[in-house]
Amino acid sequence: MSLFRPTIDSLRAYTPGRQPAAGARVIKLNTNENPYPPSPSAVEALRALDPDQLRRYPHPFGDEFRRAAASVLGVDPTWVLAGNGSDDLLTLLVRATAGPGRPVVYPTPTYVLYRTLAAIQDAPVVEVPFDTDFALPVDRLAAAAGALTFVANPNSPSGTVASHERLSALANALDGVLVVDEAYAAFAEEDALALLETHPNLVILRTLSKSHALAGLRLGYAIAHPTLLEGLAKVKDSYNVGAVAASVGSAAILDTAHTATTVARIQRNRAQLTEALQRLGCRVWPSQANFVLVRPPHGDAARVHRELERQGILVRYFDEPALVEVLRITVGTRAEQQTLIAALDAILGPLDSA
Ligand SMILES: Cc1ncc(COP(=O)(O)O)c(C=O)c1O
Repeated sequence: MSLFRPTIDSLRAYTPGRQPAAGARVIKLNTNENPYPPSPSAVEALRALDPDQLRRYPHPFGDEFRRAAASVLGVDPTWVLAGNGSDDLLTLLVRATAGPGRPVVYPTPTYVLYRTLAAIQDAPVVEVPFDTDFALPVDRLAAAAGALTFVANPNSPSGTVASHERLSALANALDGVLVVDEAYAAFAEEDALALLETHPNLVILRTLSKSHALAGLRLGYAIAHPTLLEGLAKVKDSYNVGAVAASVGSAAILDTAHTATTVARIQRNRAQLTEALQRLGCRVWPSQANFVLVRPPHGDAARVHRELERQGILVRYFDEPALVEVLRITVGTRAEQQTLIAALDAILGPLDSA
């Protein structure tokens, strides 16, 4: 007899991108980390941490961070719930709203963790393929009548975005909760914050992992109507934000000038990377995130991925039927991108009409 529920026995666990040991000599463009350092104020907050904060339990809601985030967003702190990365908030959302007879719905291809979390909760899953060029299939998503609907915006792995109008139409059409996962919104032209006031079933998720260069800290937050967040808080761990994360994260989110500078740099690098890849004959989808989705000239993404890895350059290849011909490449520093492009140039060989 198994020690586990049948669901867990048959579960295909989520596989994160490869994380080589610290100090390994690789160019890491596979998990959408920020290539630049976090805010100096955040590093200073880490150094200045009072050891007594380690001895004691933290505030159960990471209140220092909650207040800092709320002040930057211009909302009341009751509209913010912090978590151990936005993955933690995704877990809370599924735990609180989905289950047998209460479906989880999302467009595909997208962030694979949505599927895993729904499966753990024994919730039915409705996967709705994106329309051509990753346009959001609003009507078909609404028709699936999810208890919980996820839209990553910008989407991963495509980097493409859905407009306010489409997100608003979807929120209006749904009886359940709509989550707009804005892990990458800092790199985009707009975000969905303004929709919160008029859509009580909308939750926006943000993270400090990408725009704030703090993936190792594990800190994310949800923004939504306080009534909705109260429901989520019922199912969270008692102390889901550590004292270190609350303190360092507060300093980071308050340093809006540093974030703006870093984001602008990444946007410029993204444009340069897109152009260089196109010159090599790759198809590159228009991205508003800190990565690009790329189809090498012959669609032999698996081979290109392997060859790059052999040279110590990590990019993301997804073993998913819809994605066999593409790679997701994180925007890096200019130097990292130059090395990548030189390697790709050699791997792809002379340009032909493929
Ligand atoms: C769409 C999306 N949502 C959420 C996350 C998780 O981010 P965090 O580091 O905050 O858990 C990721 C991370 O890659 C992501 O791509």
